[in-house]
Amino acid sequence: MFLTLTIITFILSSCGESKKEEVKKEVIETKEVKIEEPTTGYSLFAQGEKLFNDKTCISCHQLNTKIVGPSIKKIASIYEEKNGNLMDFLEGKSEPIVDSDPGQVAIMKANLDGFVKDLSVDQLKALENYILNAK
Ligand code: HEC
Repeated sequence: MFLTLTIITFILSSCGESKKEEVKKEVIETKEVKIEEPTTGYSLFAQGEKLFNDKTCISCHQLNTKIVGPSIKKIASIYEEKNGNLMDFLEGKSEPIVDSDPGQVAIMKANLDGFVKDLSVDQLKALENYILNAK
């Protein structure tokens, strides 16, 4: 009699434990999905905006006002008007079409040769998307 009781208790408690484990698994799975969100959820535009800040483009290019370089909106409107290829410019494959003053061109060229050339194609695409769509 006592043995039967122990066995039943054992079965009951082990049942309980396996349920607990299932619950634990579910919690872990939900957590994993949440962790992935920030990287997969970012739009190309948002990645570009972040890069534009992180890579110091913003120190010379403001949204509306010309500081050292032309404003982002100016760049976007000229590229749209002249049907320019911004990717080509960032990859050093085409000549500047926004400002062709040699002194100005040299400043931007120093960036292209200095660090823009080390950015990945995906990063450049994100920057392009941000510049052309910033409002
Ligand atoms: C030290 C200042 C400086 C920084 C930093 C800088 N730029 Fe520029 N940029 C300029 C100047 C000056 C021009 C104007 C000359 C020209 O148009 O090439 C320019 C022009 C441009 C143009 C227009 C090119 C054209 O067709 O005339 C684009 C696009 C551009 N920059 C993108 C960027 C991006 C993206 C970054 C960051 C990765 C960046 N710039 C960082 C100074 C800067």
